[in-house]
Amino acid sequence: METYRPRRSVLYIPASNDKALAKIAQLACDAVIIDLEDAVAPADKIAARAKLAGIFAGHSERRCELVVRINALATEWGADDLLAAAGCEPDGILLPKVDTPRDLLEAGDVLDDNFAPDSVKLWAMIETPKALLNIGAIAELGRDPASRLNCFVAGTNDLVKETGILVTPDRRYLVPWLMQMVLAARAGGIDMLDGVSNDFRDLDAFTQECAEAAAMGFDGKSLIHPAQIEAANRAFAPSAEAVAEALSVKEAFALAENAGKGVIALNGRMVERLHLAQAEKLLAKAAAIGS
Ligand code: COA
Ligand code: MG
Repeated sequence: METYRPRRSVLYIPASNDKALAKIAQLACDAVIIDLEDAVAPADKIAARAKLAGIFAGHSERRCELVVRINALATEWGADDLLAAAGCEPDGILLPKVDTPRDLLEAGDVLDDNFAPDSVKLWAMIETPKALLNIGAIAELGRDPASRLNCFVAGTNDLVKETGILVTPDRRYLVPWLMQMVLAARAGGIDMLDGVSNDFRDLDAFTQECAEAAAMGFDGKSLIHPAQIEAANRAFAPSAEAVAEALSVKEAFALAENAGKGVIALNGRMVERLHLAQAEKLLAKAAAIGS
């Protein structure tokens, strides 16, 4: 079984915000995305890129994954961003505005040509109508380790902007697309992170959105503010009830009388070996998180 790496809480930090960057070592998030794209104004782009090496030098011991979001390769900054990010050997490089598998393959070729180690993965923003139409083919790259594709991040603000849908508290017009992303990520064997909640002062609404995202099958949520970390860590970890249920399934199949059985009854419910596999996966996840 593949080892589980938690990505429950993934916090964006603008590369231009020194005060926020200084907090990285104290934050309880599973990953940080140092942003060169939308959170950095055009006039600050080059200065922000120049700071990357210093930021990474300050975190030689990585408590959480460190990812860099570069500007799109089609912009004037993208190519140099990619080289600067690769030189820092981050855990991931997040590509915005991915439309097709080719966008990822081209970035992967640049990483290979520059001898970036295999540990440098590619993450992709899913935030354009084209990406949604091509999502199956993009996700399929996840089955080929040479592609480096490892994680999708929903870019809900851009999707809203590009499509003109109405944003409602229950995200009803986004949900069909979000579910399509989850399905594609599972087909490709990669992680899938939900988009950000802009209203970082409303933690009740945020907690509700996290619960829904966990129920929809997301691995975690992208965040914009440290106040959102705790709720995300809780929502995307297995609950105590789910752990207890998984243990009971495991124990039932371990009984001598059930050895070799494909299906058993447990507390009035049918339990199959596929449920055992599911339970073992959940227990491994809980153990990795340490909950
Ligand atoms: N990462 C780390 N620390 C952060 C942070 C972040 N994303 N956002 C805020 N903080 C820190 C602040 O530096 C501040 O620290 P201090 O108490 O030492 O001064 C503290 O948390 C409280 O910040 P607060 O005053 O509540 O927020 P703000 O008004 O300064 O900033 C935002 C609000 C939204 C501008 C800011 O949170 C932000 O830039 N978030 C990320 C945006 C981003 O990257 N967007 C791109 C992807 S959608
Ligand atoms: Mg975006």
